[in-house]
This record gives sequence, structure tokens and C-alpha cells, in this order.
Amino acid sequence: MKKIILGFAVVLGFSLASTFTFAGGDAAAGQAKTAMCAGCHGAGGNSAMANFPKLAGQGEKYLTKQLQDIKSGDRKVAEMTGMLNAFSDQDLSDIAAYYASQTIQMAGAKEESLDRGESIYRGGNIETGVPACTGCHSPSGQGNAPAGYPALGGQFAQYTAKQLRAFRTGAHDPKNAAARTNDGDNRVMRGVAAHMNDVEIEAVANFIAGLK
Ligand code: HEC
Ligand code: HEC
Repeated sequence: MKKIILGFAVVLGFSLASTFTFAGGDAAAGQAKTAMCAGCHGAGGNSAMANFPKLAGQGEKYLTKQLQDIKSGDRKVAEMTGMLNAFSDQDLSDIAAYYASQTIQMAGAKEESLDRGESIYRGGNIETGVPACTGCHSPSGQGNAPAGYPALGGQFAQYTAKQLRAFRTGAHDPKNAAARTNDGDNRVMRGVAAHMNDVEIEAVANFIAGLK
């Protein structure tokens, strides 16, 4: 009997957690909370400057996690220091739902190194153990929203390349101020980026900027 009750509690706990993550956000309420974000991330999350990531159309679950990580300091974004302190978990979910409901304006790729970038995206680098990106981020670059795998397609190459270098730094030197280490206990992205060189990073980031 005890076992059955415990089992039920586990199932219930799981479903409550999922409800919070997937159905927590109210896009209309979120929009009202984004006035100060627009200065950097643009109207509707379509930033005009390559050092500020586009948020439009990004998966809600991924966005919610990033906002929680930035607020707690697990992901360091100097430009946003203290900015999320006044927001509750519900506020962050609402903001995530708002940006997820918007449509990205593609950054666009340069012709140069496009083939090399595509080959890394779709096939990885077998010699150095870099996995293909398609499996998690999807062939079209839209990611896997329910799984929390971010959409990449259309993002500024400069931002994408910076993240890949930050994950690579996180793999080798996690205490470094430039390291990004919020990819979970499995270190998924630190594992991916650990063996990428700068030429590969620039090429795949450029390819991604035009991927849809
Ligand atoms: C002063 C400029 C600035 C303002 C204002 C700002 N941000 Fe940011 N934000 C940044 C920068 C820069 C980064 C990327 C840092 C990096 O390169 O890792 C970022 C990253 C993010 C990310 C991670 C995106 C991703 O793809 O992982 C989210 C989400 C985000 N910001 C949301 C917000 C929200 C919501 C607000 C308003 C409450 C806001 N930001 C206000 C500069 C700003
Ligand atoms: C096994 C799954 C997996 C593979 C393979 C993978 N990724 Fe990721 N990637 C993730 C996950 C999960 C995250 C989100 C980490 C987090 O929650 O902070 C992520 C995050 C990213 C980000 C940060 C996005 C942002 O908006 O800040 C970039 C850039 C990225 N991946 C690029 C790549 C590239 C390029 C490849 C191929 C060379 C690749 N990934 C392969 C799972 C994967």
C-alpha cells in the first residue's frame, strides 16, 4: 500500500512539474514586462545588433531556463546583471511565452565557408569527435522546443560563435569568466564544443545564420 501511494505521489509530482514548465507562460502578460528588454533585444525579440541575441521564436522551455539561469547567476550575462531580480518565476515564464510567440527575422549567412559550415552542422567532424548538430537542433535549425533544445536558425553568427567558444572554455576552464556552463550535468554542449576549432565554429555559426 505504501508503495502504491509513493508511486502515485511521484507521478503527481512529475505532472505538476510539467504543467509549470509547459503551460506556465501567458504571452500577453509577458509582453507587458518586456519594455526594458527591447533596448537590446529589439521589438518582439528581433534584435538589430549581432551581440544581442534574437529571442523571437525561441522555444519557451529553453527561454524559461535561460532566464532562471541568468537571474540566479548560473549563466553570466554582465549586461543583464540584476535586471531580472524583481521578476517571479511566473513573470519569467510569461516573458518566455511572449518571445516564443514571435517570428524571427533571419540574420542571413555569407556565401564564404557555407559548405564547410553545413558539413559540420549535418555531419559533425568524425576525426575529432564533434557530433552533428541536426540530431538535437533539427535539420531545419528549429530545435526541439518540448525537450528544451534551442532553435538556432537565423541567429546572428557572432552570437552563436561566442556561445560555442564559451561552452568550449567551459569544458576546459569552467571557472573562467568567459565560460558558459549551464548546459546541465550531462555537459551536452561543453562536450560538443570541447574539440571544435575556431575555423569550424565560425563556419557552422555562419551556416546557422541562414538556416531555416
Ligand atoms: C543592456 C542590454 C540587455 C538588456 C537590456 C537585456 N539583455 Fe538579455 N542579453 C543581453 C546580452 C548581451 C545577452 C547575450 C550574452 C552572451 O553573449 O552570452 C543576452 C542574453 C539573453 C538571453 C539568452 C538568449 C539565448 O539565446 O540563450 C535571454 C533569454 C535574454 N537575454 C532575455 C532578456 C530579457 C527578458 C530582458 C528584459 C527583462 C533582457 N534580456 C534585457 C543583453 C541585454
Ligand atoms: C545531444 C544534443 C545536442 C547536440 C548534438 C548539439 N547541441 Fe547545441 N544545445 C543542446 C542543448 C540541450 C542546449 C541548451 C543548453 C542549456 O540549456 O543552456 C544547446 C545549446 C546550444 C547553443 C546555445 C544557443 C543560444 O541561444 O544561446 C548553441 C549555439 C548550440 N547549442 C550549437 C550547437 C552546434 C553548432 C552543434 C553541432 C556542432 C550542437 N549545438 C550540437 C543540445 C545539443
